[in-house]
Amino acid sequence: MPSSSQTMVGVMPLLPLLFVTVLSFKLCPNHCLCYESSDLVDCRSRQLAHIPHSVPHGTWLLDLSGNELTEVRSGSFIGLWSLRILLLSNNSIQTLQPQALSSLQFLERLDLSFNRLRWLPKDFSESLSSLQELRLDHNLLQHVDSPSLNHFENLRKLDLSYNRIYAMEFKVLISLSRLSLLNLAGNKLNVLKDGLLTRQQSLEVLLLSHNNISLIETEALTPLRSLTLLGLQGNQLEHLKFKTFLNLQTTSTHLQMSLNPWTCDCDLQRVFSKIHRVRHLKVEDYADIICHAPPQLAGATLASMDSQLCMAETVSVLVITITVMLAVIGALVKAERNRKNKQTVSDTDSQTQEK
Ligand SMILES: *[C@@H]1O[C@H](CO)[C@@H](O)[C@H](O)[C@H]1NC(C)=O
Ligand SMILES: *[C@@H]1O[C@H](CO)[C@@H](O)[C@H](O)[C@H]1NC(C)=O
Repeated sequence: MPSSSQTMVGVMPLLPLLFVTVLSFKLCPNHCLCYESSDLVDCRSRQLAHIPHSVPHGTWLLDLSGNELTEVRSGSFIGLWSLRILLLSNNSIQTLQPQALSSLQFLERLDLSFNRLRWLPKDFSESLSSLQELRLDHNLLQHVDSPSLNHFENLRKLDLSYNRIYAMEFKVLISLSRLSLLNLAGNKLNVLKDGLLTRQQSLEVLLLSHNNISLIETEALTPLRSLTLLGLQGNQLEHLKFKTFLNLQTTSTHLQMSLNPWTCDCDLQRVFSKIHRVRHLKVEDYADIICHAPPQLAGATLASMDSQLCMAETVSVLVITITVMLAVIGALVKAERNRKNKQTVSDTDSQTQEK
């Protein structure tokens, strides 16, 4: 068995650790390795289809990633009061039964990434009020509804990237006032709505790249007083309103906005040049802002056109103004000529009559 002999060779320098492992052998679940008097229980990639029963009560870290779990049953972790870190990534988990995570009051990190979750149970956050970091990326979630995140008062990092989320309920983030990182990249959001991020005064990083966002409502970013990075690459933005970004009252915020189908016109140029003049805002990838429309500008960078777009507009305004003025002058001249003609005619008429 080459793999176990390889494991032995790898474990050789860890003999003291192995000794500890042997000591706590009775407590360690089958197929798993336990370290540090069972504080760390490593059950990675053991083709486990069920969560082992005999996890020692003092376990601080439980790693079950890379197994074949398809669900987490109610009370699976009962009695594990000391658990701080639970790693369940890279399984095939589709279902979290109600109370699946109960008794994990002190859990600080939960990793459920790379699974097959389509929805979160309503009581998902109920017993997880100490949680600081939650990874749910690379699942199949379509929408996130409000009760499921309601008790995450201490959550700092929430990763929901690479799901299929097209809608977030209005109040879904209302309890998450300590959130500093929210990753929603790689989803299907269409609009960033006013009111979604009202309580996120501590949010520092908001990643929304690779969604389908074509509209950021004017007040959507207003509450984000601590924002340092806003990722909006790879969306469907054609235009921006300056006011949306003026509402970002931060000390320094970097914006990433490339890979959007920008319509390059004077308006867009103006918005970017105004953003450029706001000291605390910086468009990090301005050099990569590429026009999608109008067709004659497709593929060109906005930066390469500098102020030409507005110049062209000024020129066309001038041309129109001059044309209109000429037309007016022409009309006036014509009218004057007509008047004179009429006068001449009537003068002639009256002269004729007088004769
Ligand atoms: C998931 O686990 C399998 C084997 O268990 C491994 O080959 C694969 O690289 C893992 N993927 C991730 C993203 O960790
Ligand atoms: C993306 O947004 C557009 C509207 O801007 C909508 O018509 C389209 O269906 C959306 N696509 C997806 C995949 O949600």
